[in-house]
Amino acid sequence: MARILITGSTEGIGHAAASSLLHDGHDVVVHARNDDRAQALRDLVARGASPVLGDLADLDQVRRLGDQAARLGPFDAVIHNAGVIDGAALLPVNVVAPYLLTAAVPAARLIYLSSSMHRGGEADIAGADWAGASKTLSYSDSKLLVTVLMAAVARRRTDLISSAVDPGWVPTRMGGPSASDDLALGHVTQAWLATTHDPSALVSGRYWHHQRVQTPHPAVHDEAFQDELLAALAEYTGVTLAPVRSQRGVRP
Ligand SMILES: NC(=O)c1ccc[n+]([C@@H]2O[C@H](COP(=O)([O-])OP(=O)(O)OC[C@H]3O[C@@H](n4cnc5c(N)ncnc54)[C@H](OP(=O)(O)O)[C@@H]3O)[C@@H](O)[C@H]2O)c1
Repeated sequence: MARILITGSTEGIGHAAASSLLHDGHDVVVHARNDDRAQALRDLVARGASPVLGDLADLDQVRRLGDQAARLGPFDAVIHNAGVIDGAALLPVNVVAPYLLTAAVPAARLIYLSSSMHRGGEADIAGADWAGASKTLSYSDSKLLVTVLMAAVARRRTDLISSAVDPGWVPTRMGGPSASDDLALGHVTQAWLATTHDPSALVSGRYWHHQRVQTPHPAVHDEAFQDELLAALAEYTGVTLAPVRSQRGVRP
């Protein structure tokens, strides 16, 4: 049995991942932004999941969420699933929150939700407003940045396994009714990466789609850009992602 935290488990792919992992007998910590939205976790909590709360668009709440979750850890895996597709919260929710929670919550495996749309992102953070007072970058940019974060974590934290997943275009609230991919597959790769002993999944720094490794945007493995992103996030949050070296994670 693995202990797994999933951010954004009230809806869509995060809720499906939590449901599937509970079905398989795992110990799951689910997450909602506030008490009202926690109502959407009731079915998962009734099946044994533990809830944590915090709005990922609010830096102070993310810090408190990190403390809350750390007390329930260490985790075998954290699935950084929560995301928004537009608006000023794009960078806080899709990039800053995964960064802070990565630093705060001990885990053996980290899985970041990316998107095929990351390929259209620009590797340029010069104008980024990390606080989200206004929208500065696009959804594609934010998904490129969280994929770069995944690779930066793989490089810095060789004590853990860091992976990114494109879940496909699936008909959730975010994906919309026209989405062409199979909803039933949207959570499968993340749940597998969180729990499997398959050697291919234990290699850190990989980008996955439907349990197959794909080559991401070239900026993902650009070490100078990784360092630039980490430095910008450290400066904004005041939290540095300290390097930890061990034999557990294996770089690709
Ligand atoms: N659906 C797709 O086709 C697709 C394709 C590629 C990648 N993805 C990625 O997959 C992940 C899940 O997407 P989805 O389709 O399942 O989206 P969704 O149905 O809209 O669910 C998003 C989840 O994130 C949570 N969330 C958003 N903002 C939050 C905040 N400020 N604080 C706390 N929680 C917040 C939502 O909580 P509330 O319910 O309270 O809003 C919800 O639980 C995202 O990272 C997305 O970018 C999705």
